Amino acid sequence: SAREEQSTLPDGTLASLAHEARHCTRCALHCKATQTVFGDGPENAKIMVVGEQPGDHEDLAGKPFVGPAGQLFDRTLREIGVDRGGLYVTNAVKHFKYETRGKRRIHQRPNAGEVEQCRWWLNQEIALVQPKLIVAMGATALYALTGGKEKVSEIRGRPLPMQEGRTLFVTVHPSYLLRLPDEQAKEMEIKKFKQDMLYVRNFE
Ligand code: URA
Repeated sequence: SAREEQSTLPDGTLASLAHEARHCTRCALHCKATQTVFGDGPENAKIMVVGEQPGDHEDLAGKPFVGPAGQLFDRTLREIGVDRGGLYVTNAVKHFKYETRGKRRIHQRPNAGEVEQCRWWLNQEIALVQPKLIVAMGATALYALTGGKEKVSEIRGRPLPMQEGRTLFVTVHPSYLLRLPDEQAKEMEIKKFKQDMLYVRNFE
């Protein structure tokens, strides 16, 4: 549409940035992925949530956190009364990285080089949205945001000062919770994740 055409202009909006990202070839992941999965949410969101990379469902839908991890994320937010629609939700890496096994596409973790290439987009998103709080879910998001070697387990669950007066808050990735084999441990960890997300609800 004419509107879409317009958004190709570098007019400094999220829409034009997302449009530009559709053609990204900064790393090789675009070769196998269906499409770029850009961040989603209001341009003026106070809170940005960063995951790892789109999964199988997200790659097909073109939207972040719509598969099983997204459902756990949504359920957690619902249970604590946070409206996802108010959050800007994105990923450290914008293309799905996978390995094919039979008919299945098995998620592979992005490597440091891929995260570093894609950080350019994340930094643009931060510059445009100007969130007051950034929530890093998991080690990849944390690495993308800080470049540091901190462990999620060591810094999760408490606010950390970031550049430009922002707050960084680290928690686990919902996919990690889904992978826990022990049901009791899983339940405990989901509770802890929910506790962490209460910080997001109470953030002012
Ligand atoms: N896992 C992520 O990190 N991001 C998504 O969008 C989906 C699953």
